[in-house]
Amino acid sequence: MPVAGSSVRAEQIELMASLAHQERTSGEFEKSLAKLSDMESDLSPEQQANLREWRRDFKIATCLPNEFVKEFARLSSEALTVWGKARKENSFKTFAPYLEKMVALSQKKAELLGYKDHPYDALLDTFEPDTTSKELTELFSKVKSEIQTLLKKIEGAKQVDGSCLHGNFSPDKQLEFGKVVLEAMGYDLDKGRLDLSTHPFSMAIHPSDSRITTRIHQSSLFDSLSCVLHEGGHSLYEMGMLPEYYGSPLCEAVSLGIHESQSRLWETRIGQSKPFWNHFLPKLANTFPTLKEVPLETFYKAINKVAPSLIRIESDEVTYSLHVIIRFELEKKLIEGSLKVADLPEAWNAEMQKTLGITPPTDTEGCLQDIHWSMGAFGYFPTYALGNLYASQFFATLQEKFPDWEKRVASGDLLFVREWLREQIHQHGKTYRAADLVKKVTGKPLSPEPYITYLNTKYSKIYE
Ligand code: CO
Repeated sequence: MPVAGSSVRAEQIELMASLAHQERTSGEFEKSLAKLSDMESDLSPEQQANLREWRRDFKIATCLPNEFVKEFARLSSEALTVWGKARKENSFKTFAPYLEKMVALSQKKAELLGYKDHPYDALLDTFEPDTTSKELTELFSKVKSEIQTLLKKIEGAKQVDGSCLHGNFSPDKQLEFGKVVLEAMGYDLDKGRLDLSTHPFSMAIHPSDSRITTRIHQSSLFDSLSCVLHEGGHSLYEMGMLPEYYGSPLCEAVSLGIHESQSRLWETRIGQSKPFWNHFLPKLANTFPTLKEVPLETFYKAINKVAPSLIRIESDEVTYSLHVIIRFELEKKLIEGSLKVADLPEAWNAEMQKTLGITPPTDTEGCLQDIHWSMGAFGYFPTYALGNLYASQFFATLQEKFPDWEKRVASGDLLFVREWLREQIHQHGKTYRAADLVKKVTGKPLSPEPYITYLNTKYSKIYE
């Protein structure tokens, strides 16, 4: 869309948000819900799950007046454009007035939705239902301190040489190889597509139409592949839902955290594992002959190289969650009012220095780097770190169920992973809430231990 189109787009989005809200809160819908509630005991467990989700959706929608929904939609659309401009000019001042309005509206949203302990919980609940900031603070503080200890060990060890991933790699060939990997994952290219975009994303329309994008750097090999694995993981989740439930919560993802667990599982646990590259490195070397001289061990270490960096989406597996936790802490303060928008750049830089030992030279590489706050998506960030925790716990169970998983992956067999995820997670849609699903699949409530153990084990071998 051309830049000048953004104001009319804001009007369109405002109208769509308003019309959708009217439908979701209509008297007719309320009557149907009441009718279903009367016969609840006669409904199947799946129907009851639908009813539970429709009720929840209705409750949230009715808490927000239509005028508020319109205002929020309009502002987020406008702020998004200003954020883009501010990034180009590296001017936080340009964005600050819009962010102030966005924070104020989000605070109002929290009040309208209601909460027990903390206004942030109301916003968090819209992305990761049933989760509270208190729980996250406990989970994340453990994760943060463990990762920081690991990071110190890594910094004191012999550094990894990542140079084999840099050179001149034809974008067309990278894209072709991405499709080879997708097909091995069980991604059906008759039900999906892989295209290029500035920011990689996945977009599901129906289980039979779930598309993804990647971005390709000609000089760097692994960026696009890890995007393909990540977005492919998201897309397989959507493809694995049952089409007969389309249009109902049973054909929707449990939460953003569970969604992210699917992408991170494929991206990191499979795509950054040695068995995977045992199979795929010779194939990649056929496409890019400079890799023919590169031993598996060198390649494996290169794709798992750890180095604190400024940009979340480009960060390595060890520091990634730290980026997310920093944003969680800052946005919680913005919402509770203990951090003023004007002081955000300074607070951001101080946290980056304290946690990762680096200070962004510009705000574009600092607090302006992510799109979420401009859209008013406060409470979204924690789902990225939760995705890592869920993924590790799911994967620990997969490892128990398939003790020979490494052998199978090393022989190029990935379909059993997709099948297991499908059977355990994808096909159920929203039948189970996140906490129940985790217990059902893994036998235990969510814990940071599998994630911490995984990182420590893997990276103490890479950085001896
Ligand atoms: Co994702």
